[in-house]
Amino acid sequence: MVRTALLCGAAAAFLPALIEAQYTQVKEYIGDSFFDDWDFYNHADDLTSGNVFFVSSSTAGKDKLAYINDAGNAIMKVDNTSSVSVGQDRNSVRINTKDHFTVGSLWVTDMLHVPFGCSVWPAFWSSAVDWPSGGEIDTFEGVNQVTMNQMALHTADGCTHSASALQTSTLINSTDCSTAANDNEGCVVTTPTTSSYGAGFAAAGGGVFVTEFATEGIAIWFFNRSEVPSVLQSNASTISVSDLGTPTANYSAATCNISTFFEPQALIFDITLCGEFAGNQAVFAETCSGVCYDDFVIGTPSNYDDAYFEVKYVRVYGVPGEDTVENAAPASARAHALAGAVLIAVVLGALLAL
Ligand SMILES: *[C@@H]1O[C@H](CO)[C@@H](O)[C@H](O)[C@H]1NC(C)=O
Ligand SMILES: *[C@@H]1O[C@H](CO)[C@@H](O)[C@H](O)[C@H]1NC(C)=O
Ligand SMILES: *[C@@H]1O[C@H](CO)[C@@H](O)[C@H](O)[C@H]1NC(C)=O
Ligand SMILES: *[C@@H]1O[C@H](CO)[C@@H](O)[C@H](O)[C@H]1NC(C)=O
Ligand SMILES: *[C@@H]1O[C@H](CO)[C@@H](O)[C@H](O)[C@H]1NC(C)=O
Ligand SMILES: *[C@@H]1O[C@H](CO)[C@@H](O)[C@H](O)[C@H]1NC(C)=O
Repeated sequence: MVRTALLCGAAAAFLPALIEAQYTQVKEYIGDSFFDDWDFYNHADDLTSGNVFFVSSSTAGKDKLAYINDAGNAIMKVDNTSSVSVGQDRNSVRINTKDHFTVGSLWVTDMLHVPFGCSVWPAFWSSAVDWPSGGEIDTFEGVNQVTMNQMALHTADGCTHSASALQTSTLINSTDCSTAANDNEGCVVTTPTTSSYGAGFAAAGGGVFVTEFATEGIAIWFFNRSEVPSVLQSNASTISVSDLGTPTANYSAATCNISTFFEPQALIFDITLCGEFAGNQAVFAETCSGVCYDDFVIGTPSNYDDAYFEVKYVRVYGVPGEDTVENAAPASARAHALAGAVLIAVVLGALLAL
C-alpha cells in the first residue's frame, strides 16, 4: 500500500528511494499546546507499585508539575517542594496521548533533560489498550543512577529479539519479550552511550529518540545532540528511515511478528518512584545506598531537583495514504472495559451472597 500510494505521485527518477519506508507528519505535540491532547492519569501508581500519586491535569498546572517553561518546552516533574509524611506518596506526572497510532507509524521525541536520581524511574513508552496482548514499546527508560538508557518490548508469548538483526548496540540484556518470561523483564537492549541517560544526557544537551513501528519490525534510534541527523534538525514534513542510518536497537519481524503482537499504541510519559524496578533492593543497591522509600521519597524534597523531563516536542509520522491516527476511540473502549469489570464484580458479589 505504501509503495502504490507513493508511486502514483512520484516520478520514475525517484524510484530507488522508494524502497525505504517513508513517513509524513500526522501529529505534533509542541509549545503552548503540548499538553492539549494527553490525558493525565489522576490516580496512584497502580501499575508498577511506585510511591507516587500521578496528579490530575488541574493539580499539575496549579502545582507546576506539568507546564511550558520560558523556552517553550514541556516540563513534567516530581514534586520537589513538599514534605511527604510516612506512609504517603509523593506527587508526580503520568500522561498518555488521547490518540493511538497504528502499525505504520514513527515517533520522534526531542528532549533536553530526563529525570534521574536515586529512587527515580522515568519512562517514555507506548502501550496498547489491551496489555500485554497488544504490546508495549519502551523507547526510553532508566532507574536510579544508571548511566545508559534501556529499550525494550513487552508482549504476549512468542516474540523475541535477535542479536543478529541490523543494529548498533551490542549490549543485549535479554531476548524474550514475553511478559511471562524473566519476571516481565522484556527484551532489553541498552543504548551504548552515557549521553543517553541521567546527568550525561543533560550535559550533552539532550538528544532525540526515534521509534519506528512498522510491519517489518520495531526499530529505535538515539542521537545525542551532536549527532542529530539533518532531517531531524528542523520540522521535517517527511522522514525516510534511510535518513536515520542503522538503528540502535532493532526488533525485526523475523523473530517478532509485529501484526500479531502489536495493536495501536498510545504514547506515555511517566515518572514513578521506587516500585517494582527502581525499588527492587538488588537493582537499587547497584547504583544507590540506603532505603528507597525511607531515605528518598519521604526524605528531603530536594532529592527530586533532577527528576524532570524537559521535552522540546513529540512528532508522529505515518505511512502516506493510511489512517495511522485512531482518535480517542480506545478511551471509551477502556471505559467500557472498566464498566464491564465493575458489572462482573457486582454480579459475582451478588452470586457469592446467594
Ligand atoms: C532490522 O534488521 C533486519 C534484519 O537484519 C533488517 O532487514 C532491517 O532492515 C533492519 N531495520 C532497520 C530499520 O534497519
Ligand atoms: C544491561 O547490560 C549493560 C551492559 O552489560 C549493563 O550496563 C546494564 O546494567 C544492563 N541492564 C540491566 C537492566 O540489567
Ligand atoms: C555522542 O554519541 C557519540 C556516539 O555514540 C559518542 O561518541 C559521543 O561521545 C557522544 N557525545 C557525548 C557528549 O557524550
Ligand atoms: C511542522 O510541520 C507541520 C507540517 O509538516 C506543520 O503542520 C506544523 O505546524 C509545523 N510545526 C511548527 C511548530 O512549525
Ligand atoms: C505475521 O502473521 C500474519 C498472520 O498470522 C501473516 O499473514 C504474516 O505473513 C506474518 N508476517 C511475518 C513478517 O511473518
Ligand atoms: C525543584 O526543581 C527545579 C527543577 O526541576 C529547580 O529549579 C528548583 O530550584 C527545585 N527546588 C525547589 C524548592 O523548587
